[in-house]
Amino acid sequence: MPSLEEELFPSTPGKFKDRNRHFHRCFASTSTMFLWALFLIALTASYLCFQSFMDSGNRYFTSTWGGHHWERNVINSAQIRRSHGGMSVLVTGAAGFVGSHVSLALKKRGDGVVGIDNFNNYYDPSLKKARKNLLTQNSIFIVDGDINDSKLLVKLFDIARFTHVMHLAAQAGVRYAMENPGSYIHSNIAGLVSLLEVCKNSNPQPAIVWASSSSVYGLNEKVPFSESDRTDQPASLYAATKKAGEEITHTYNHIYGLSITGLRFFTVYGPWGRPDMAYFSFTRNILQGKPITVYRGKNRVDLARDFTYIDDVVKGCIGSLDTSGKSTGSGGKKRGPAPYRIFNLGNTSPVTVPMMVAMLEKHLKVKAKKNFVVMPGNGDVPFTHANISSARKEFGYKPTTDLQTGLKKFVKWYLSYYGYDQGKL
Ligand SMILES: NC(=O)c1ccc[n+]([C@@H]2O[C@H](COP(=O)([O-])OP(=O)(O)OC[C@H]3O[C@@H](n4cnc5c(N)ncnc54)[C@H](O)[C@@H]3O)[C@@H](O)[C@H]2O)c1
Repeated sequence: MPSLEEELFPSTPGKFKDRNRHFHRCFASTSTMFLWALFLIALTASYLCFQSFMDSGNRYFTSTWGGHHWERNVINSAQIRRSHGGMSVLVTGAAGFVGSHVSLALKKRGDGVVGIDNFNNYYDPSLKKARKNLLTQNSIFIVDGDINDSKLLVKLFDIARFTHVMHLAAQAGVRYAMENPGSYIHSNIAGLVSLLEVCKNSNPQPAIVWASSSSVYGLNEKVPFSESDRTDQPASLYAATKKAGEEITHTYNHIYGLSITGLRFFTVYGPWGRPDMAYFSFTRNILQGKPITVYRGKNRVDLARDFTYIDDVVKGCIGSLDTSGKSTGSGGKKRGPAPYRIFNLGNTSPVTVPMMVAMLEKHLKVKAKKNFVVMPGNGDVPFTHANISSARKEFGYKPTTDLQTGLKKFVKWYLSYYGYDQGKL
């Protein structure tokens, strides 16, 4: 009597009984079908995985770039048109508030400027497109792309030999970090490293000036804030990523000889500003007759900010670029020590938020409906105040616009851009 095993798998092929042969044929075709089904499932799963991988990548890399026409635009825009000196600057975040102003100021001097921006929708992208149009009218080309796209960055450095990088692309805003923490890591950490990698490998290496933030002072209580004060108590993820940026750039300076200047901006405001910032959203709400929420600190103490007008910040950025010194490495190898600097760029005269609101009311000729609320622990700090003596000493930084004057210019721009009636809608 053959064993069950032998019945199913006879050692001598010729001894197969018909019954068994039939059974085995059935089994063979079922198992083939089963294998085919498995194969199809695996194929579908891999396709879906691939699609989702492409989708998550494309969220940030949706732009198309390259081609003869595109390259010509980059080369023309990067061209220096000054008789003496001059620099060719890659401005990241060029469709942003500060980036668009810095790009225009550089171009006006005859420096070469190429912008890059991913036009994300953190705030109304139509404002970014409008800034882009303004830059295009001034012969500045903005590449629609992400700083994490290293192939794009390598291509840009291949065709335009940038002497400097003005790095302003970032996920800004303190409170949004609680909603979308990943966007801060993507732009402020991964994006920064992606940019530094390409800069360090390029030959010659550019000098880099980049935007850190006054938020790195976090819970520091010593005023005014000096560059040597402690910055190890961030109050928000945004601040933590800027602080991390200062450490990361230091590493690239130390290992690869990249010239680095970090600028700690203090509440920059002005025409073409950022809609998520208080002075901007207050203006919109006041015109629309909606209430505004004014935060207060402990014991009903008013919050205060060292509001700094955009033109003063632009002068600080250009002063930093002009004095940045050279990177010493090339092709990823350090050849000697390079400058590593950090400067506060503030106005050095803080104003309380209710005073700022009173100025807006005066310029808008409308009374605000104010709701005073105790500041929640969501990343804001009670006050900021910059000591700017280092920047003054190094490149003659001297802010000249007070908040009253600056807000008047902002309101004039706001009404011309949105229209008084639109502001009321
Ligand atoms: N405005 C201020 O008060 C202030 C204060 C302190 C620091 N800063 C810093 O200054 C810089 C400029 O700020 P802003 O007020 O002009 O902000 P902004 O949001 O108007 O400009 C940043 C620009 O970078 C772009 N961007 C973001 N991530 C990108 C990415 N991964 N790839 C390509 N582009 C990307 C955005 O689309 C945006 O246009 C930022 O680094 C910000 O953190 C600003």
